Amino acid sequence: MAKYVIDYSGPLRGEVVISGSKNAVLPILAATILMEGECEISDVPNLLDVDVMCRILRSLGLEVIENWDEHTVTVINNGITTSVVPHELVKLMRASIFVMGPLLARTGKAVIDLPGGCSIGSRPIDLHNKGLKLMGARILMDDTTVEASAANGLKGNLVYLDFPSVGATENVMMAATLSAGVTTIENAAEEPEIVDLANFLTKMGAKIKGAGTDTIRIEGVEKLHGARHTVIPDRIETGTFMIAAAISRGDILIKNSIPDHVRPVIAKLMECGAIVNDEVEGLRVRGDINDLVATDINTLPYPGFPTDMQALFMALLTTVDGTSQVIETVFENRFMHAAELTRLGANIRVEGRKAIIPGNQNPLTGAQVVSTDLRAGAALVLAGLVAKGHTEVSEIYHVERGYEDFQDKLKALGAKIERVED
Ligand code: UD1
Repeated sequence: MAKYVIDYSGPLRGEVVISGSKNAVLPILAATILMEGECEISDVPNLLDVDVMCRILRSLGLEVIENWDEHTVTVINNGITTSVVPHELVKLMRASIFVMGPLLARTGKAVIDLPGGCSIGSRPIDLHNKGLKLMGARILMDDTTVEASAANGLKGNLVYLDFPSVGATENVMMAATLSAGVTTIENAAEEPEIVDLANFLTKMGAKIKGAGTDTIRIEGVEKLHGARHTVIPDRIETGTFMIAAAISRGDILIKNSIPDHVRPVIAKLMECGAIVNDEVEGLRVRGDINDLVATDINTLPYPGFPTDMQALFMALLTTVDGTSQVIETVFENRFMHAAELTRLGANIRVEGRKAIIPGNQNPLTGAQVVSTDLRAGAALVLAGLVAKGHTEVSEIYHVERGYEDFQDKLKALGAKIERVED
């Protein structure tokens, strides 16, 4: 298994270009199940999770051409050959559940393994199921598998989500595009990835209004056709390099980013004393001008502070003056990184869903740490870059699931990081 070997690197300086969004492209690829014809998707990040989704599409009978020189994926859909998603692919990626809605809408049936829990929480799919049931699906579930069927097709309905789940909003929205009548999703998730998916579905002929607000209205159509689409930049990768600039007290110009998608991260970094400027060429973040100070974070659904940035921001807060508090409201168990940051010398007290990070800490010092999930792994890498001495981050397959060329992009900014096969 591979690990990152990291040495103290000083301030990171230079430019970085952000890749296409992982969380946008996964449902977009799943949505190609709905259409007949050919789709060309550009700015696709070359990631393990994307490859798994491409393999799932192939297993269902679609032709998928991955062109990594151009970062495009072409999907040709001449008909779906099975409604059963292979077990060995689903277990590689929780986001496989995105194929449930499209597969059900297109073929009248979807059989898929349950995504199961992970280190950040139990990850239930009750809201996905609730939405599809309200649209007329029959859902059978045992401990390992969910089987959804709608022999007479899906029918539009009012779907109120008890929590604005990103995945449930996407699954219901995709299924609704080919359902009879109108579906209204209330308390829908408002994340930019939902808007990108809605834009792609609309290009394929879907009728969707309100994506990006808490009420999305979808009028079902008979068929969807092929389309071309460019995926939005990854806002969490953008946020990661913003933190890299601040935590290293450096100066990074972040190109191919959409500042509107990272407003809460900009606001919180500015509260800490970092300088963030929306320049012509990109977003410039400087941690080298002011002394950085504590702030509090409360994770929320978009447009609140993203849970996917919580571990990264916590790493930064261990290096600033004053006591900070971090509250995680989206996932039930998303503080695994706190124990790993403690191994680097940080002082973090976790009380349920709250973490307290006392100020004026000693500098972090290098140690061997374990990446427990994707964003936790990235947080440990950034902490390792500013820790005195030598740090090793193991189980980096988590990080590689979601960051394209992470170590190369960091190296170009002056980071001393190597990927080593154990
Ligand atoms: C997506 C993102 C993930 C991000 C998360 C929240 C992708 C591939 N992943 O995950 O990076 O951290 O949004 O911004 O886009 N829940 C239920 N029942 C359900 C569904 C969700 O209780 O049926 C709960 C979850 O356990 C969690 C919360 O709702 O506590 C948020 O989950 P959700 O928004 O669905 O996240 P994902 O779509 O899985």
